[in-house]
Amino acid sequence: MQPKTTRIDPPTVPNDPQDDSRIIIQGGRQLHGSVRVGGAKNAVLKMMAAALLSKHTTVLRNVPNLTDVHMMATILRQLGAKVDINRNEVSIDASGVNSWEAPYELVSHLRASFVVLGPLLSRFREAKVSLPGGCAIGERKIDLHERGLKILGADVRIDHGYVTASAKKLVGARMYLDRPSNGATENIMLAAVCAEGTTIIENAAQDPEIVNLADCVNAMGGNIQGAGTYQITIEGVPFEEMHDAVVDTMPDRVEVGTFMLACMATGGEILIEGANAHHLYSVISKVQEMGAEVAIYAPDVIRIKCENTKFKGTDITTLPYPGFPTDLQALFMPVMAVSEGTSIVEETIYENRFMHAAELRRMGADVVIKGNAAVIKGVEKLMGAEVKASDLRAGAALIVAGLGAEGITEVTGLRHLDRGYDRLEEKLRSLGAEIWRR
Ligand code: EPU
Repeated sequence: MQPKTTRIDPPTVPNDPQDDSRIIIQGGRQLHGSVRVGGAKNAVLKMMAAALLSKHTTVLRNVPNLTDVHMMATILRQLGAKVDINRNEVSIDASGVNSWEAPYELVSHLRASFVVLGPLLSRFREAKVSLPGGCAIGERKIDLHERGLKILGADVRIDHGYVTASAKKLVGARMYLDRPSNGATENIMLAAVCAEGTTIIENAAQDPEIVNLADCVNAMGGNIQGAGTYQITIEGVPFEEMHDAVVDTMPDRVEVGTFMLACMATGGEILIEGANAHHLYSVISKVQEMGAEVAIYAPDVIRIKCENTKFKGTDITTLPYPGFPTDLQALFMPVMAVSEGTSIVEETIYENRFMHAAELRRMGADVVIKGNAAVIKGVEKLMGAEVKASDLRAGAALIVAGLGAEGITEVTGLRHLDRGYDRLEEKLRSLGAEIWRR
């Protein structure tokens, strides 16, 4: 059977890669008040892909307005799904999905879309998905995805930039991941949903986004147990038994961390609402060690107080969850740059996630990169400068740096930022920051 060929419409993404817009920040304004975080990018994108696992409608709530969400919607529509985005709710009717091919023109915009491979294979026993291509922060291999799908019985080939997977039938099996990769855990877990029998993934990623994804699949009629631990068990169910579901997206823990670090960079005291503190203990513990006061209520409200605090430098090693998240190391760097003493950030997840260091140096930070570590010696203050975001979290780190710096900072490369933050400057402005987009 040949996949249906469909015309590829240009992605309906609200920003243009050639965009030279910039965020301008007058530094030195303390943050006060309360702010509400949105749903997690890294959870919702995978749940949108999981919606392919039924002929019915999956409604996702608490969805952030991100260019990545719009891009994922474009990819699902290209596959034949009907996707409606209405404020913070996304409705995906997957009854009309009639293609199992996700082309380079779309996948190259959004690495997370590679996770359609597992659901398409589970549903059609056939999938052809483009390799996502280059990435600024590291190599981002897919060997574990490939091996896991082969263990389930798929024939997986990489040809002309595409991964093609096919299977007469998928049969549950036990497997061990050499490292707890999020993407591999997700692709294998989703492929196993409609396989025959039981699949056990050992050394699975334990991130809360995996739990949200498993909850979503279970709400759709799947049977996944153990998500959030190192061992996930998936009992295969027939595709015909999958049904409608309504699922809430978990809070974005990286957005929560971003506001905590923004508060530390400027001083002040803020309440972060709609969070889940249980997901952030490694981060809260570092923030406290540096000298910020943190109180947790509920646990969906976090108060952070840093008025007149001179922070102490600290060391961070990024690790798979529940270790310190790689997605937040860049955000700590501008605060470490003005903390007492020397801080060391060791990056163990990606090979090249220090692109923000050179931009921070332009703002007066004393940062030296040695192999996979950044050595940051505290200076009195950072100074505003024109800087450019090289990736999503680097962009947020430069905004945090600008909020605390003396004078004006202009941040370009905003297409990266808009992939993962929903109205960041508007939320910061509501806390008293002087920040605007031009
Ligand atoms: N890896 C392999 N082989 C594989 C898969 C991964 O060697 O088959 C390696 C990667 O090369 C990387 C490491 O394992 O060095 C971690 O990769 P993982 O698969 O866990 O990451 P991911 O699923 O590609 C997600 C997030 C990232 C986040 C990482 C780690 C999404 C869309 N992305 O990526 O988020 O940094 O997990 O927590 O969920 C971000 O939001 O800014 C971001 C980059």
